[in-house]
Amino acid sequence: ECDTRISDALMAWYDRHARVLPWRVPPGSNQTPDPYRIWLSEVMLQQTTVAAVQAYFHRFTARWPTVQDLAAAQDDEVMAEWAGLGYYARARNLLKCAREVSRMGGFPRTREALQTLPGIGPYTSAAIAAIAFDQQETVLDGNVERVMARLFDEHTPLPQAKPILTGYAASLTPPHRPGDHAQAVMDLGATICTPRNPACGICPVMAKCAARLAGTAPSLPRKTRK
Ligand code: ADE
Repeated sequence: ECDTRISDALMAWYDRHARVLPWRVPPGSNQTPDPYRIWLSEVMLQQTTVAAVQAYFHRFTARWPTVQDLAAAQDDEVMAEWAGLGYYARARNLLKCAREVSRMGGFPRTREALQTLPGIGPYTSAAIAAIAFDQQETVLDGNVERVMARLFDEHTPLPQAKPILTGYAASLTPPHRPGDHAQAVMDLGATICTPRNPACGICPVMAKCAARLAGTAPSLPRKTRK
């Protein structure tokens, strides 16, 4: 059902080139990701770059190593540690969510249940379910939209293209290692399939990329002018 020619090539590339990030376990290792660290990283990454998030992630996890520790923190301590990340509603929801999860005895494992928690929307719930709990969920963010628009040479402009690109992304999500697949697409979008000057010449899926063939990659995705 899933097109494995693209996802297999992506996974082989990720196994060799995955970015080393503090919340990740290396691909192929026997370690299981810590749902607390996956959740914390995904909330921090909602409106902030990977580069900016790393120092905050280190400080948060050093000070509050578990969701129970964070749940027991004072509101003003957490807000002070969040200072600089912006979007302070995220920090308030973070603490609410930590307290709820702590009361529940741990993170729920499905996208649907995760989505009922404060600050966890469609993107974050899919990311946690896939990366932390190995559920076959499709993660869609700006990077993924760009990669899909190019792989399938989709010229429909955003935001109308969103459901189409969601369908493409779902068609590529494999039943095995869906979390690594999600992170592979994110890494591809961040390092090779970049908004400007995509490095098509070193792309692991260039042979299967319709936009590469058509020469349209740099102009995708299209956007309706606001
Ligand atoms: N951006 C959002 N989540 C990410 C992740 N898990 N890895 C890399 N970039 C991301």
